[in-house]
Amino acid sequence: MTEISDREVQADKSTDALASREFRQGRRVTSGPATIRPSAVLGQTGSHMLLSLPRPAALSIGSDGTMVGRSAGYQKRLGDLAGTYRDEGAYQTALADHGADRIVYSVEESRVADGPGALIIGTSTLLPGRIGDEFALTRGHLHAIADRAELYHCLSGTGVMVLETIDGASQVVALRPGDALHVPGHWLHRSVNVGQEPFVTLFCYSADAGQDYGIIADAGGMATLVVDDGAGGWTTRRNPNHRGYQAR
Ligand SMILES: [Fe+2]
Repeated sequence: MTEISDREVQADKSTDALASREFRQGRRVTSGPATIRPSAVLGQTGSHMLLSLPRPAALSIGSDGTMVGRSAGYQKRLGDLAGTYRDEGAYQTALADHGADRIVYSVEESRVADGPGALIIGTSTLLPGRIGDEFALTRGHLHAIADRAELYHCLSGTGVMVLETIDGASQVVALRPGDALHVPGHWLHRSVNVGQEPFVTLFCYSADAGQDYGIIADAGGMATLVVDDGAGGWTTRRNPNHRGYQAR
């Protein structure tokens, strides 16, 4: 290794040590692509041609969905969910009672690269509640690149994942803390909070997957509703508005 490369490696170690300290102290909040010399990465002498690589992102994930080391995040509010709940009257009442800005769910993400092979790792925190007899839910989607799979791991709360295919298959999986679900490609999926506490999941999927939300709207909603069973629990019911999915 050249003298120059040794200094580069030492500087890189110092930077990482500082970042690690900041991370442990909860002060490290960003991560992202950086320029790294191949010789510093591989410990070899050679060309000093610059190669842009994403930097590894160390994350600390709380059971409440907090993610130290996140690179992005967003929130979905009641006003963003028009047309998502079957009972339009109950939705309008909720809007009048709580306002369009009421948060329904929050997402934290770590994305250090895009394109094939890259991952998005994040948390989803879906607050409890009901619209009519339907429990609080996420919009749901099919991945725009439909064969992309996804992992969900429940961190806290109690919920269910509703899974459907465009040819009519349907499955509902209950998730409690510690439970995980492997969602294969070609399955539409949606989270539903059936408990009294926030339903928090860790997810991981391909960065190039994308989301197709319109396929659910065009079908009149997902085929399966998750509703109050009248006895303190939940049950499923066929959505009478569902018209079937149209292949894209
Ligand atoms: Fe997904």
